[in-house]
Amino acid sequence: MCDGVCIVTPEYNRSIPGVLNNAVDWGSKPPAENIWRDKVIAMTGASLGGIGTAVGQQHLRQILAIQGAIVMPGEVYITFKSPTMIGDDGQMDDETLSEFIADFGARMEKLVGKMTAS
Ligand SMILES: Cc1cc2nc3c(=O)[nH]c(=O)nc-3n(C[C@H](O)[C@H](O)[C@H](O)COP(=O)(O)O)c2cc1C
Repeated sequence: MCDGVCIVTPEYNRSIPGVLNNAVDWGSKPPAENIWRDKVIAMTGASLGGIGTAVGQQHLRQILAIQGAIVMPGEVYITFKSPTMIGDDGQMDDETLSEFIADFGARMEKLVGKMTAS
């Protein structure tokens, strides 16, 4: 059990990869055991293209909202800039992006806190 899930995905043919779609489907049935209902979902993704998985994420947003998930508002589309974005040590070299992603994580944590407060 978890209160929130952060999905990081590539974009496939302006949608999501089949393997991710399969995971969403399996989690959604039978309806009484739908794992997505009332679950906080944050999403992001990176691609080489300029729109950074925007269309794929819109699709994922739609699918999960229908399942009753609480999809975090906001947009986190990342254009992967090789080789400047990630250093040889595997760490992110782009400070602005690094701060942006940290803020995204903090926003998700805050939303999960609000949705699980009793
Ligand atoms: C079948 C397929 C469809 C793709 N469609 C898109 C797309 O619509 N938009 C995009 O930005 N990149 C697209 N890509 C490029 C992926 O974003 C890129 O290959 C990514 O690194 C996927 O990693 P993976 O193939 O190792 O899972 C596609 C790649 C594949 C294999």
